[in-house]
Amino acid sequence: NKSEHYSAQVRPPGTSRRIPQTIIIGVRKGGTRALLEMLDIHPNIVVAATEVHFFDWDENYVKGIDWYRSLMPFSYGNQITIEKTPGYFTSPQAPERIHDMNSSIKLLLILRDPTERVISDYTQVYYNRVESHKPVQLFEDIVIKNGALNTKYKAIQRSLYDVHMEKWLKHFSLDQIHIVDGNTLIKDPLPELQKVERFLNLPSRIMSSNFYFNQTKGFYCIRSDGRERCLHESKGRPHPLVNNTVLEQLYSYFKEHNAKFYRMVNHSFDWH
Ligand code: A3P
Repeated sequence: NKSEHYSAQVRPPGTSRRIPQTIIIGVRKGGTRALLEMLDIHPNIVVAATEVHFFDWDENYVKGIDWYRSLMPFSYGNQITIEKTPGYFTSPQAPERIHDMNSSIKLLLILRDPTERVISDYTQVYYNRVESHKPVQLFEDIVIKNGALNTKYKAIQRSLYDVHMEKWLKHFSLDQIHIVDGNTLIKDPLPELQKVERFLNLPSRIMSSNFYFNQTKGFYCIRSDGRERCLHESKGRPHPLVNNTVLEQLYSYFKEHNAKFYRMVNHSFDWH
């Protein structure tokens, strides 16, 4: 059992901690946890359990590369180490810092419809605030200010994929960045994972038998190493029903940005 094996404190013979050869750079709420957990099914992949925030948080970055490596799981020489920190995608410093570490690294970016991502981002913050007994606001009251779209809202800014992608393409070539369609990963995970296997030059090992649809959760769950598990309850939460006029405003705001993004990456997505 891979997970038990790697969570052990002692170093299994023949293994070491390695700097990631692949990083899931985001986007926040794109489905980054699902992607990481599903890739972890692969025998040639080991994943860092927690979000490391090495390249986006200065207080971690100054600790240096040995600190970063120390947070990685033990791996064999034929295994790829992956960490995911969704904040990297929108971080101004992350592209250059990652490039300084390894200019030929392969990056994974999982994106979903930008409006849906805003609502998911809002929903996460909403639940966090409820849990810590802080006041909450209606989605519409945050997104609309004085009758107009509040484009300063952080969650909207994070969904401007063209703006963020431009910074990455200053440091990396397009063929180093594989974009996973987060909307497809929800509906039908296997084909998206097979594309990632090809991108990482790994043999095809993830199978349809590794997934089963859980009616109660409303999402695919994972079957691997004789265990069945769904993602944490914070993944796949119901979203608030958003006023149609507000939705339309968001769709039209993102339209130009999406078109620009499609041109940038030579690929279209099925977004509003
Ligand atoms: P919602 O909770 O808004 O539905 P991240 O891990 O980057 O925070 O992304 C969370 C999102 O992953 C969830 O957003 C959910 O839609 C998506 N997701 C994709 N596949 C999933 C799965 N199999 N189980 C649960 N959530 C999944």
